[in-house]
Amino acid sequence: MSSAKLNAPKPILAVLDGMRIDPPPIWLMRQAGRFLPEYRKLRSEVGTFLELAYSPKLAAEVTLQPIRRFGFDAAILFSDILVVPDAMNQKVSFVEGEGPRLDPLRDPEGFSRLRSEIDLSRLAPIFETIGRVKRELPGRCAMLGFCGAPWTVASYMIAGRGTPDQAPARLFAYRHPSAFQELIDRLVEASIAYLSAQFAAGAEAVQIFESFAGAIPKAFLEDWSLTPIRRIVDALRGKLPNVRIIVFAKGSGLSPDRVAAATGANAVGIDWTVDPTEAFFNDRSSSKPLTPLQGNLDPLALVAGGEALGRGVKRVLSGFGSVPHIFNLGHGILPETPIENVERLVAMVRSGDELDNKG
Ligand code: CP3
Repeated sequence: MSSAKLNAPKPILAVLDGMRIDPPPIWLMRQAGRFLPEYRKLRSEVGTFLELAYSPKLAAEVTLQPIRRFGFDAAILFSDILVVPDAMNQKVSFVEGEGPRLDPLRDPEGFSRLRSEIDLSRLAPIFETIGRVKRELPGRCAMLGFCGAPWTVASYMIAGRGTPDQAPARLFAYRHPSAFQELIDRLVEASIAYLSAQFAAGAEAVQIFESFAGAIPKAFLEDWSLTPIRRIVDALRGKLPNVRIIVFAKGSGLSPDRVAAATGANAVGIDWTVDPTEAFFNDRSSSKPLTPLQGNLDPLALVAGGEALGRGVKRVLSGFGSVPHIFNLGHGILPETPIENVERLVAMVRSGDELDNKG
């Protein structure tokens, strides 16, 4: 049973409220970024990634670029999950072609260098960006904010960079359990403050990226990931009862219903490893409303194009069946993705048909 709220005219917001829409609305994780030539051009004219993220005029422009080009149903704020450590006084930079670098937290003493609370004034330009984008968005397009989930952000803060399996963070959690908990607690509080400010600035929904859920041993999934996210969701709802929240816990191995129940999310992002037709997905026989789902085309099928793309899109469209569905990738769009494949994807999803015959 869907429970659409009449006051949600934007398709993505209606889906987040439980309504099934055909064809489904679409946006792509990491849509504001390097696969777009207009982004790369603007990026080359600005010194650092953070300078760009903290320049409202430019960040608004980058946020709007994929909307102008593809007419997506949501704009995602151009920023990064690592502005939170930056606003806690941990030095953050982005190295061209390599990724983020932070001053790593090797031991509990590292905390002494950090602020215990997030400095929202440092992030003020980001809130201004949201306001600017909001004023320029087409009517059907929703404004999405985001943050990283505490575990995913903590793993960068501890390792100082991306790591294949988050080994430094896991080791830190085992060696220094109370310091690890303290870090998670600080990130929970920081995320609540940060997301509240994003909503206040005009975000209509937010996504919490737990990109590294797959690196958490099952026994700790609750403590390191689900409970911290739940605390963020509960605190936000305590202040703003109707806020819409998407949780993307990549590789958690849990059913979306379980993720929704454990975190309180309105909708759950599904990564590209999961088969949407699998029964554990949603208990479709029950009479309770279906958890809205988002996903989950393999980003590499979008890079490949041709038949892989045509088949992949069909599989996603049919796989989510009658569930309230937001079409997305199963992780972020890759920089090498051809523009024409994205155009074709959008056309296929919007027409619900077989433009793939030529592939
Ligand atoms: O989705 C969007 O288009 C909005 C902007 C956005 C960025 N990062 C911009 C960015 C979002 C939502 C993120 C989230 C993010 N950042 C995540 C979670 C999502 C995911 O992909 O798992 C993570 C793990 C990060 C950390 C991060 N930031 C990495 C690993 C990198 C380098 C590699 C990469 O994917 O680009 C960044 C830098 C970054 N963040 C860039 C962009 C456009 C590229 C830097 C540049 O242009 O110089």
